[in-house]
Amino acid sequence: MKIAIDGPAGAGKSTIARILAAKLGVLYIDTGAMYRALALKALKTTINLHDPQDLLELALHTHIHFELNDQQQKVICDGRDVTEAIRSPEVSAVVSQVAVHPAVRKQMVIMQRDMARNHSVVMDGRDIGECVLPDADYKFYVTASLEERTKRRIKELQANGYEVDEERVKREIMQRDHQDSHREVGALKLLPDSILIDTSALTVDQAVTKIMKIIQGAQI
Ligand code: DC
Repeated sequence: MKIAIDGPAGAGKSTIARILAAKLGVLYIDTGAMYRALALKALKTTINLHDPQDLLELALHTHIHFELNDQQQKVICDGRDVTEAIRSPEVSAVVSQVAVHPAVRKQMVIMQRDMARNHSVVMDGRDIGECVLPDADYKFYVTASLEERTKRRIKELQANGYEVDEERVKREIMQRDHQDSHREVGALKLLPDSILIDTSALTVDQAVTKIMKIIQGAQI
């Protein structure tokens, strides 16, 4: 079974996808974490983030995989655990610039399809239903209002010890939404065969239950 979950930043995609995968007993692949890992690596070099050729070279020489450790999914980049580092505001600020280049995306899509080749998966991102798993059994578009997504992002940053400026967080989410939905390749969009799940007024559990009902209902 292949389940694609797309949607904007802060809609709850990753949390929902992780729980869903655990309930279904399938692999969870967080493709945003892969772009973040590449962005983190790029930030540690002198690479110009606007140079697609250099970034592609970097992507070709980067190994990203996921490991399950004490029920926690760890993101490993070139053998190093980057699970926390990839969530920093510095990475969030530049990751869309890294993800905009078609050549970089092409390479990421190859890696993502490879990870899903022989497994049942729940995969979340922006272009999963359209580019990575176009034949997915289910495609969900998980979203929430800008206000709600800003609130959630602030909570997450505060929980990780960051000081936050609400207006700035909101502005950055809007910028990211714009970049992610207006790029040439792999742009975020609601597909005709996607099921829309608005989580603005739902708890994580409610959202997961709603999706599970759709999956189970369709299997009866
Ligand atoms: O889901 P996230 O916020 O961790 O994703 C980080 C960034 O990576 C986001 O700005 C968009 C980009 N991304 C993408 O372009 N394609 C994907 N499949 C997943 C994420």
